[in-house]
Amino acid sequence: MQQTLTVLGLESSCDDTAAALVRHVPGQTPEILSSVVAGQTALHAPYGGVVPEIAARAHAEKLDLCVEEALAGAGLTLAQVDAVAVTAGPGLIGGVLSGVMCAKGLAVGAGLPLVGVNHLAGHALTPRLTDGLAFPYLMLLVSGGHCQFLIAAGPETFTRIGGTIDDAPGEAFDKTAKILGLPQPGGPAVEAEAAQGNPRRFDLPRPLLDRPGCDMSFSGLKTAVLRARDGLVAAQGGITRADRADLCAGFQAAVAAVLAAKSRRAIRAYLALAPATPMLAVAGGVAANRAIRAALEGVAAEAGVGFVAPPLRLCTDNAAMIAWAGIERLRLGHRDGMDLGARPRWPLDAASPAMLGSGKKGAKA
Ligand code: KG4
Ligand code: ZN
Repeated sequence: MQQTLTVLGLESSCDDTAAALVRHVPGQTPEILSSVVAGQTALHAPYGGVVPEIAARAHAEKLDLCVEEALAGAGLTLAQVDAVAVTAGPGLIGGVLSGVMCAKGLAVGAGLPLVGVNHLAGHALTPRLTDGLAFPYLMLLVSGGHCQFLIAAGPETFTRIGGTIDDAPGEAFDKTAKILGLPQPGGPAVEAEAAQGNPRRFDLPRPLLDRPGCDMSFSGLKTAVLRARDGLVAAQGGITRADRADLCAGFQAAVAAVLAAKSRRAIRAYLALAPATPMLAVAGGVAANRAIRAALEGVAAEAGVGFVAPPLRLCTDNAAMIAWAGIERLRLGHRDGMDLGARPRWPLDAASPAMLGSGKKGAKA
């Protein structure tokens, strides 16, 4: 498929309902014509985590409104769209089903091709949408639901060379915030506190650094914060503002150190492929953290590897990345039929071993 493609993307795998239109003229930089994201944070706030049934219902209610808004924002009608791309997994099954059903309805109603997209491929292909990265590049996905190193060698060719064996880093930030009485989402709150604190006061663990490979673990770190807090409460009856800031600083420094050390190893594995223009790209909400971003940028510079962090609105869940991943699939000649299914688990790299457990935002794939 070498003609201009204008694709409508839909995303509903977690707690963001999103629709976007992306246009790609072959040989030119792709253009995001519109991107609408309706978050559900307030709906889930009373429960301290995403409630799958509430999420699915909200997606079903909001999807067509988001599509209308995205079309209006782009100044287009469905008749001017070439295909519908939709997240078909991995994620919370009710939400993924809502999106897939909506996409099928739109595709049948408007007589458009349908293309199912892996949500993780959406994140992993974003640096091609924003910065035109050439394959192969190294990708670190770090969010509330994901944490993995991927070598992207083609639109559908990914090798996972490591990932978390328990919590995702964003999840650890959120739990740390909860332990210390800070608001959700925890990442920005912990980062703000950390800026006032002393990262060396508490000796927090750097899990799995002593083991070879690029796998990571963050749940022990959060438990260490809990123990330190309980120790302070037992010794002095509570925690002071300085204690809280020091714990946040120590926690953030530990996450940054683990991500930096494992990135160093991942870069070594990636450079063995002798890429012409070596690049490390990051995506996910945690990539917004300045200390973590600086640590990763430093590691890339040390290794002579370029560094790309797409703008935050395209790092966190959105539908522009799904529309773009759809375009990449359509260019390969792929499309799906009305039998397209919703997959709660869908590893990008089918050859790599399954991840352990699932996070608060669904399966880690
Ligand atoms: O990518 P994202 O919006 O959603 C998914 O998890 O899919 O990432 C959200 C996660 C949350 O856990 C949030 O606490 C974390 O990213 N986060 C941060 C920061 N901003 C958001 N973590 C650390 N530092 C930040 N500044
Ligand atoms: Zn995501």
